[in-house]
Order: sequence, then C-alpha cells, then structure tokens
Amino acid sequence: MTAPVPSADLPLNLHEYEAAARALLPPPVWAYVVAGSGDEVTVRANRSAFDRWRLLPRMLAGLREVSTATTVLGQPIALPVLIAPSGRHRLCCDDGERATARAAKAAGTIYTMSSAASFAIEEIAPDAGLWWFQLYVFTDRGFTRELIARAASAGAAALVVTVDVPVRARRDSERRGRFETWGGMAMTRLGATPEPPPAAVDAAPGPVATDFDPAFSWDDLAWLASLSPLPILLKGILHPDDARLALAHGARGVIVSNHGGRQLDGAVAALDALPAVAAAVAGRADVLLDGGVRRGTDVLKALALGARAVLIGRPTHWGLAVAGEAGVRHILELLRAELSLDLMLCGLPSPADVSRELLVPANTLTGSP
Ligand SMILES: Cc1cc2nc3c(=O)[nH]c(=O)nc-3n(C[C@H](O)[C@H](O)[C@H](O)COP(=O)(O)O)c2cc1C
Repeated sequence: MTAPVPSADLPLNLHEYEAAARALLPPPVWAYVVAGSGDEVTVRANRSAFDRWRLLPRMLAGLREVSTATTVLGQPIALPVLIAPSGRHRLCCDDGERATARAAKAAGTIYTMSSAASFAIEEIAPDAGLWWFQLYVFTDRGFTRELIARAASAGAAALVVTVDVPVRARRDSERRGRFETWGGMAMTRLGATPEPPPAAVDAAPGPVATDFDPAFSWDDLAWLASLSPLPILLKGILHPDDARLALAHGARGVIVSNHGGRQLDGAVAALDALPAVAAAVAGRADVLLDGGVRRGTDVLKALALGARAVLIGRPTHWGLAVAGEAGVRHILELLRAELSLDLMLCGLPSPADVSRELLVPANTLTGSP
C-alpha cells in the first residue's frame, strides 16, 4: 500500500494525489479520509468558496525572487502551510504520524499532532520539528490533563483545542464503507476511543455515546489554560463573536475551520467565514484557516482575506498513501512551489505583502448575482 514510488512518477498536483490515493487505499480507509457529514454541502462549499475570488495581480514589480517564509505565533516557518491535526495516519502508511512529522520538519513547517493519532505522543515527538498538540476535551478531565502534561513534556509548542466536536457528526460514507467493522477505529493509540464508533452513535445518540465532553464551555477554558504554559489556539471558530470570546479568554490564535465539512453539514465555508473573524481579531492574535486548500492560489486567497497561514487535512493522507513520508514532503513542496510562483506572478515579495487588494469577487466581474 505504501511502497515508495520514483519521484518522476509522483503526481503533479494535489488533485492528482487525491486520485492516486483513491486507487491505492482500501475502500473503508478511503471513506474515512474523504468523508464529510450529511449531504457534504460544506465539503463542497469549502472548495467552491475559493473559486468565487479572482486575483488582481500587479506588474513590473521588479522582483528577482520571492520568499514563502512567514511566522506563526512568533515562530519562523518556511511556508504558510501547516499540517492540520488528523487521526490515524497509520491507516495510510505503516510509519503513520512519524512519517508526517518528519515530512513537516523537512519542509520547515509545523506538524499538528492529533488526539486521535495512531502512535503515542512520545513515539511521534522525537521525529517532529516544531509541533503543536491538538486536544479534544474528554469527559474524563483527569485523562485530558494527562494528555496535556504528556504533550508539554514531549515538546509541543502550542495546544490546539478543537471546539467544533461537542459530539461526533454522522458521516454516511464512512458508515457505508463499514470503517468500524473493518477495524479502523482500533488504530487510535493516544487515549480511550476519541472518536466513538458509528455503531455506538446508532445505539445511543447524544452525549452518552461519546467520550468527548459536550458540556465543555468558555468557562472551562481558564481551567485548561492553567494546566500548562503552552499558548492555546482554538480550532473550529466560524463566528466573529466566538473569535472575540477566544481572545477574551486568552487564546493566542484561532483556526477558522468547519472540520473539513466533517461536523455540521451546511455550516459556512471556512473561507467565507474568514473575513469577519479576521476583522474581529484585528491583528491581536494569529488567524489561521483550514478547509479545501489544494493550490498555491488558495493559500494566497486565504492570506488576502486575513489568514496568517493555512492548514491541510486530507492531502496529508493522500501523500502518505502514495509515497509515505516522501509523499507528504512532496505535497508540501508542491504547495510551496505553487505559492512561490503565484507570489511572483502577482508581483509580491512575500506572504507579508499579500493584502485584500489582491482580490476581486468573481461575481462583480461576470455580472452574475
Ligand atoms: C481523516 C481526517 C481526520 C481528522 N481528524 C481530526 C482530529 O483528530 N482532530 C481535529 O481537530 N481535526 C481533525 N480533522 C479535521 C482537520 O484538522 C481539518 O480541519 C480538515 O481536514 C481541513 O479540511 P481539508 O481536509 O479540506 O484540508 C480530520 C480530518 C480528516 C480528513
């Protein structure tokens, strides 16, 4: 499933990676990776939101070269594309999260370790460069506290607290792919079943079926923050008022995200939610975005609408499936090369120079509503 392929045969872009991974992965794993919730309206919206913006480049900028480097939470990184937290990388490649962590390190960017990783924190951390730990808050607060302590002592540079999963949504394609029966849930190593099996959701809908704490609220954030000195980012923010609350509760960053369309179906596309969140944050913290980022021009559009950086979710799994560590490294390199080219074509020397002026809404050009 994960035999290395010669680099000449590697896909040319992320869309080709998706097609190649689909051909390689067992159907239940493919279903797990691509699944969205409900009718997958939000999965599609995440992608189509990028198409509603056009780039308005400037000419004769006199650049000999451009840089894709930037900073996130004050830390320098080589490109404004991070690895989003996603579970069970060993389903796609034997080396799983260790391969992903090494690829991110080689690319000079941040790896975000999922609470639902298929290796233990301490098994992945030695392979990682700069990495963040993604936390689900469990009803077992002692276990939650223990995870934070383990992540901190293993060297995590920040905590990404995912706030859009009070309960796990229903994902029909995953259920149809019989992911649970197939044994995919058993791939989680970090803790007690972070994502409860669809069968359990069937049997007893609602909070009793899950280990996530649906009652976790703004009031509990102070408790969470008191457990470690690590900066906290909240992942899954879509409403500008929630971004304001995040800052009021001490968050150093927010990740505008709808979980790649895997939670509330019909939720607003991440890119569409970004401008209002960025305006609410007003430069007081870092705003990041994930959901549907597949091209250098997508990165550019997100930066123009107020993101400091973006994260990729599903593409990591495609890279692992096609060529393991080399595949993830190549995916990041493709995005870096595309972004570099796009910056040059727009006459912009670096991500810091990207502004709202770069974008025109597509419908004002076509006359359509
Ligand atoms: C297979 C898979 C597993 C995921 N697991 C997690 C997780 O454990 N924690 C989390 O916060 N988000 C998780 N996500 C959501 C991603 O972090 C991210 O928000 C989303 O994938 C971004 O959209 P994209 O896949 O279109 O790039 C997962 C996504 C996928 C595809």
